[in-house]
Amino acid sequence: MRIAAIDQGTTSTRVLILGAEGALEPVLSLSHGQSYPAPGHVEQDGEELLANILRCLDAAAPDAVGLANQGESCLAWDRRDGRPICAVISWQDDRTADVTAALAREGAAPVVMARAGLPLDPYFSASKLGWIMRHVPRAAELAAQGNLRLGTTDAFFRDRLTGRFETDVATASRTSLMTLETGCWDEELCRLFGVPLQCLPAIGPTSGDLGRLPGGARLAASVVDQQAALFGHGCHRPGAGKVTFGTGAFVQCLTGALVRPDQPGPLPTVAWQRAGEAITFALDGGVYSAASAVNWARELGLFDGYAAISAFAKEPAIDRGIAFVPALAGLGCPHWNRAARGAWLGLGLGDGKADMMQALLEGVALRTAELLAAMQAEHPFDGPVSVDGGLSRNGYFVRFLSEVAGHDLFLPEETEQTATGLAWMAAECFGIDRPERRAGRHVVADTTGRAARLETFAAARRATEGFAGAVT
Ligand code: G3P
Repeated sequence: MRIAAIDQGTTSTRVLILGAEGALEPVLSLSHGQSYPAPGHVEQDGEELLANILRCLDAAAPDAVGLANQGESCLAWDRRDGRPICAVISWQDDRTADVTAALAREGAAPVVMARAGLPLDPYFSASKLGWIMRHVPRAAELAAQGNLRLGTTDAFFRDRLTGRFETDVATASRTSLMTLETGCWDEELCRLFGVPLQCLPAIGPTSGDLGRLPGGARLAASVVDQQAALFGHGCHRPGAGKVTFGTGAFVQCLTGALVRPDQPGPLPTVAWQRAGEAITFALDGGVYSAASAVNWARELGLFDGYAAISAFAKEPAIDRGIAFVPALAGLGCPHWNRAARGAWLGLGLGDGKADMMQALLEGVALRTAELLAAMQAEHPFDGPVSVDGGLSRNGYFVRFLSEVAGHDLFLPEETEQTATGLAWMAAECFGIDRPERRAGRHVVADTTGRAARLETFAAARRATEGFAGAVT
């Protein structure tokens, strides 16, 4: 049986095939456009994403498919022909920061926290879908006729590809429109964000018989990409955790049962749900700028090749009083301050590009360490945290991360953990089990100086938050 994993991510759409030995074989990778039409706006073209998925399907010619989507990114389309009526509003987009701030001022935060388990933040789909209802004139028109469809990108893909207007419970848990305990759309939340519930897709499991794709392959798994990666990392017992370093850095810890933090911090989220089984939960948190910060610095001319930032001659920048706060798209978990912006602090005349880059990498690691600590306080990690994605191949970064996180890390040999998770989620629907052993490398944490580094970084972060507060 030919099983394909299609990973429709923030910057690319990739397809890989599950090989005989359980390895993932890349078939095709396609990039797509991103547009930034106004400050804080980040958009993609739904038709382009869909066309790329179709090209991946064509190239792989599979019997069964696992499909991953970007979390939170969403759009609206016409029920009759499936054509989008607006761009995909990316998870990175913070055009609705004023909406969520106004809702917070009106005292809505406790209701959202109690029902969706999420803080009020423009990251989640709810305020983005509400924005579409208020700003895209055709949305209201189509809604009045009963022809409007609203959803995350997976619901759009599945509507067009399988003819079934459905989403999965893990992706739905990232919208801030779902009651976490029941896995059903929440009327009160839909009303609060101005999203007509009847325009949303049906919520179903993350794997099972999810319909037939063009060409006849069965869609056997459909899930948000970070949860697919969690599955790929083999995080199946409570306390097992992973970090994926892509555009952002996304940390998850499997909890099994629902763990609800009292304060906005790590997010309770659905990990997955096999058809006919109970929901498995996880905790989640993201550093919004990871590879995006590195690429931004490269475009600014701070370094050329990646070899230049894999090792540094000097001791860590943070120990020399130089810090970078990677808040280029605001601060997410556990601070939830979207107004914050990035900054280098502590530079002197003797410091150059290499020092700035060293501080930048350390800043991403230190933010990740903050997040791991916040998660650890809610549910302890059990065993090394498994790490994948581009930055996990940077020797300096990984060593520094283990030091400031105070966690041993595991670096799986297989670099495509999202695809790995998708493929095995799909495979188990056909009774194909994953081999137990996973090849990879351990990094043992040396935590000397950890507390001082975290303190220096926290001071830098507070300074940038204070600055943003002074401006807004
Ligand atoms: O929450 C956003 C996340 O799902 C995006 O992941 O891998 O597409 O950058 P990625």
